[in-house]
Amino acid sequence: MAMVTDETVLERMDGMKTMSEQLKVLGAMAKGERNFDSAAVETALARLTEEAARIPAQFEKEVIVPKSEALPEIRENREDFTEKAETLETRAVAMSVSEAADLGPALRRIGGACKSCHGDYRE
Ligand code: HEC
Repeated sequence: MAMVTDETVLERMDGMKTMSEQLKVLGAMAKGERNFDSAAVETALARLTEEAARIPAQFEKEVIVPKSEALPEIRENREDFTEKAETLETRAVAMSVSEAADLGPALRRIGGACKSCHGDYRE
């Protein structure tokens, strides 16, 4: 990771990591490792939404660095890539979590949106 110096790549990797951190917060509550806290849930979902909205622009520029896991197919299937980012954003916005039991299904829906893009566009 220390090898990556390109700002575009660093920024999008940071965005992805920020999203992973939000899933960890939600996951810890889902597993009961952390008390259910609706304010923390709202914050995590808001951060996810924000980061998801930034994805299409972050991957607009083609950058080839050995450490990047972004596949060239992103550029060939720009519309589909953007749609997958929008699906994630829409799911994060629409998520209604009012108790701990809602977290599992919410995480599956959000995680499914992450995987659907990684499956096609990440090495
Ligand atoms: C629209 C496509 C898309 C969506 C949606 C998406 N990702 Fe990614 N993700 C990528 C691509 C492409 C890469 C590879 C980026 C690179 O290496 O330059 C990546 C890389 C990552 C990485 C590795 C970052 C690093 O430091 O190398 C993590 C972690 C990650 N994603 C987490 C997530 C999580 C969590 C979600 C859902 C909340 C998510 N991603 C949703 C496309 C997506």
